[in-house]
Amino acid sequence: MAGKIPAHFIDELLNRVDIVDLINSRVPLKKAGKDYQACCPFHNEKTPSFTVSREKQFYHCFGCGAHGTAIGFLMEYDNLGFVDSIEELAGKAGLEVPREGGSDSGPDYRPFYDTLEQAARFYQWQLRKHPDAGKAVNYLKQRGLTGEISVDFGIGYAPPGWDNLIKQLGQGDKQLERLRVTGMISEPEADKCYDRFRDRIMFPIRNHRGQTIAFGGRILGDGKPKYLNSPETPIFHKGKELYGLYEARKALRKIERLLVVEGYMDVVALAQFGIRYAVATLGTATTAEHLERLFRTTNEVIFCFDGDRAGRDAGWKALETALPHMRDGREARFLFLPDGEDPDTLVRKEGRETFEQRIIHSTPLSSFLFDKLEAEVDMDSLGGRARLAELAKPLLAKLPTGLFREMMQQRLAKKVGLETHQLGNPPANDTHKPRPPLRKKQGAQQTLSPIRRAITLLLIKPELGQVADIPTEWRDFRAPGINLLSQLLEIVRNQPNLRTAQIIERWRGKPEYSHLEKIWSTATELPTPESGMEMEFRGALQRLVEQQHEQETTQLLERVSTGDASEQEKQRLGQLLSEKQKIADLRRRSD
Ligand code: GTP
Ligand code: MN
Repeated sequence: MAGKIPAHFIDELLNRVDIVDLINSRVPLKKAGKDYQACCPFHNEKTPSFTVSREKQFYHCFGCGAHGTAIGFLMEYDNLGFVDSIEELAGKAGLEVPREGGSDSGPDYRPFYDTLEQAARFYQWQLRKHPDAGKAVNYLKQRGLTGEISVDFGIGYAPPGWDNLIKQLGQGDKQLERLRVTGMISEPEADKCYDRFRDRIMFPIRNHRGQTIAFGGRILGDGKPKYLNSPETPIFHKGKELYGLYEARKALRKIERLLVVEGYMDVVALAQFGIRYAVATLGTATTAEHLERLFRTTNEVIFCFDGDRAGRDAGWKALETALPHMRDGREARFLFLPDGEDPDTLVRKEGRETFEQRIIHSTPLSSFLFDKLEAEVDMDSLGGRARLAELAKPLLAKLPTGLFREMMQQRLAKKVGLETHQLGNPPANDTHKPRPPLRKKQGAQQTLSPIRRAITLLLIKPELGQVADIPTEWRDFRAPGINLLSQLLEIVRNQPNLRTAQIIERWRGKPEYSHLEKIWSTATELPTPESGMEMEFRGALQRLVEQQHEQETTQLLERVSTGDASEQEKQRLGQLLSEKQKIADLRRRSD
């Protein structure tokens, strides 16, 4: 289990992140005096009363009262839990979220990082000092690498021999154990071990803090295996890491886009030619975790592949993995290189500018998707077009609900020659959950307001509308969302057979529509088991009643203090206050 996030880190994070940039990337802001404004994303309005202050690093809506820090904004707007919001911001700032020590702070990996750092330094030193270093340096020169770029990427040389690293670092059982855990030694038999990397060019793989977590080792010249990678270890998961991401962050102040290539050499060569935003997966296909990391860093990701059959197939696989991550504002493109070329050879041949033109003119995800499918069917026949719809629908269903998804559906409808609704697309994303349970939601429940919770529950399980004797005294409560909840409850009460998609459909064209859609499409985040839903629903309504009473109490107290309260109002206040006392007593007793 991870420990608590220390408060000083949260302070530091809020220092580093600019709330104006953050919000502007989701809700376009306009400058107004020294602050920034927009129409509030949390309630419906025509004139902007949502204000973001750079100075205060705070947002506030004068219309609905929504307010908070950058973290609060992400929790509300992206519907993230507290920890996830922090992770998201930290990812953007290039920071790792530290955890406070203590019994549940998890294993201490520091010795492993130390060992790998020592190994990286040893290899770098060998590239300069080892008697055989000449051939390694020559190899790098022949590949066109400058000394400068080799230093930037920490490239080194593992000399020939079975135990150079062991001799250097492995004195003592403890050290040997660390080499073993970090995958630096091979152990064919229990009492035998030797260096995993021998006579290879060494590429250290660094995490986002710049700590070496693994190595890739290339043979000098031909031979097999061409590349040898560290195995999976407690600190290295190749399905998560991107080679070159740390170096890109270090070289660039702002990462406008990321180019995903296949090889170490490609990343290094591109960097040498001034294209500092290339990263490589480590011999695996692009995973969902890669995509999250990529899109956490930038909104524009270009996948680069060979132009051959295998490259196209790999590209298609990347597209399928990318679909669920294509939230509005994010962009994915595909770049297929001429046969026989990789980014390394091509950038050396044609230089930075021409290569960057290729990046700029790469194929948008939408075109790649439709071009590929259209090539598989006969677009001149009715049957062929129907088949296109059949092929495209499950893919588009993977897209998160939003504008991009709608545009893709319209595009498909146009191609097929139908209206969007004739394609039978659900109005909201009810087959796919746009945020796959990649990152465990923590504390999501606490972050949902009771209104939101009640609405979400009704959408997940409309039958809750039939629950008898539910608290109703909240209807006078003045808060955004109350009317929506009332109306929703009325519909599910009167028409018990409606499915959620049909219910939401009632609001189409109305301002609440996208709100409901969003709640529904992220509804899995409510971690309530089926059996607990009724209780949860009652609880949410009960909480609303309490909030309504609090609101009323405050108002009445004010009237009493100004001498405006009627006898009836005073009585009501007395009733409210004694009720509050009773509840507090009950709570105390049950604690
Ligand atoms: P060179 O230009 O030949 O040095 O290599 P490259 O960087 O162009 O790599 P290539 O396109 O051949 O392969 C892409 C990536 O796949 C490499 O960077 C490695 O991560 C991985 N890879 C290639 N060959 C091997 C191999 O033999 N074993 C393993 N485990 N991975 C490999
Ligand atoms: Mn290559």
